[in-house]
Amino acid sequence: MKTLQINQAKGLKGEIRMPGDKSITHRAIMLGALARGETVVNNFLPSADCLATVDCFRKLGIEIRVTRNANVVSIMGKGLPGLAQPKGILDVGNSGTTIRLLSGILAGQKFEVKISGDESIEKRPMGRVAKPLRLMGASIEGKIRNNEVFAPLKIIGGDLCPIRYELPVPSAQVKSAVLLAGLFANGETTVAEKFPSRDHTERMLEHFGAAFRITHNELRVTGCSEFDAAEVDVPGDISSAAFFMVSALITPNSELTLLNVGLNPTRTGIIDVLHRMGASIEVPREIMLSEEPRADITVRSSELRSIELSGEIIPRIIDEIPIIAVAATQAEGVTEIRGAKELRIKESDRIKTTAAELRKLGAEIEELEDGLRIPGPQKLKGALLQSYGDHRIAMSMAIAGLIAEGTTTIENTDCIETSFPGFEKILKGLLP
Ligand code: S3P
Repeated sequence: MKTLQINQAKGLKGEIRMPGDKSITHRAIMLGALARGETVVNNFLPSADCLATVDCFRKLGIEIRVTRNANVVSIMGKGLPGLAQPKGILDVGNSGTTIRLLSGILAGQKFEVKISGDESIEKRPMGRVAKPLRLMGASIEGKIRNNEVFAPLKIIGGDLCPIRYELPVPSAQVKSAVLLAGLFANGETTVAEKFPSRDHTERMLEHFGAAFRITHNELRVTGCSEFDAAEVDVPGDISSAAFFMVSALITPNSELTLLNVGLNPTRTGIIDVLHRMGASIEVPREIMLSEEPRADITVRSSELRSIELSGEIIPRIIDEIPIIAVAATQAEGVTEIRGAKELRIKESDRIKTTAAELRKLGAEIEELEDGLRIPGPQKLKGALLQSYGDHRIAMSMAIAGLIAEGTTTIENTDCIETSFPGFEKILKGLLP
């Protein structure tokens, strides 16, 4: 089991090329596998989660080549009817995006398949995808506990009918599962969402030229319409960049330039929030590639002020709340985050785990049913911390360690591999 040791830092300087976006990488593999011909994905993220998606599609009969340095992938798509029944159970590891999006695709296949993942995946609710996919005609069985469905899932798909589905929770994974199942339905499937969540599936469907359109704020996909392979350039992951943004803001004498950061407006909530907190983050004009905007951004140490967050912004910062909590410990005033109950069912209960670990560093932090209350600024003191097997908790605490007096040790940091291979090396390369 790996541990990560972080000493209080005097300042961070440098330029970092951000690794590819995890959400976009998953979708590029999935649509590449369903397209006709060879799809090449540049700046693919070779993290454990994305490699789990690659592995699942290989088991479904798709040839996928990963280059030696693993940043370019080519997928030999066989078109919509091209997947074959796998021999064994599909294993998604720790990846919620893989199991939920792939369930949508499997719902459209005329064979039976079992899919599961690690201990954390088996604790995450799957009823939210099972419900609409059953309405479309798929059979999905899982383990039932307290009226909720959990993996392992057994999916028997085929002959789907289109539905109109209003998302009961703002979730890009559920939205995407329905849209991907819609590719196999006989007619037009419509999805409506109250608060916008990340729209990478929609952009990727457009990029591949699938029969997809948006009218009256509703997403519509027409099934059984083939599309051809495309080249995909994956931008850097803004959720990974968020750790380095906050590291530069809270560590005195810091200046970091983060190269090729994805700036899709459904993901830039973190920059909006940090700007409102008084952060110096320069965002130049973006360029658009593969329907996804990106730019190099520069972040400097800043005096931060507190913020109140709730409502529509929450889905746009859902993965960044633990690192926003770290920034809040250094901001003047009381930061309050509400309406973020979804955090309780991520890779860990992130309301609980963020509060518990920041407390070990000496911070005062109040756990609310649907969020956190954090006064600031507060002095932190190095301590022995846990990751709970959650990559974003491990990395958030590593950044907190940069401003904690003495040394911070985080145990069980192997999980960082799920989204950010090379995190420790990059972080240590920025220290004087
Ligand atoms: C993701 C959607 C979000 C996010 C996750 C990735 C995606 O989950 O937290 O890390 O790629 O669609 P939810 O759909 O559960 O909000």
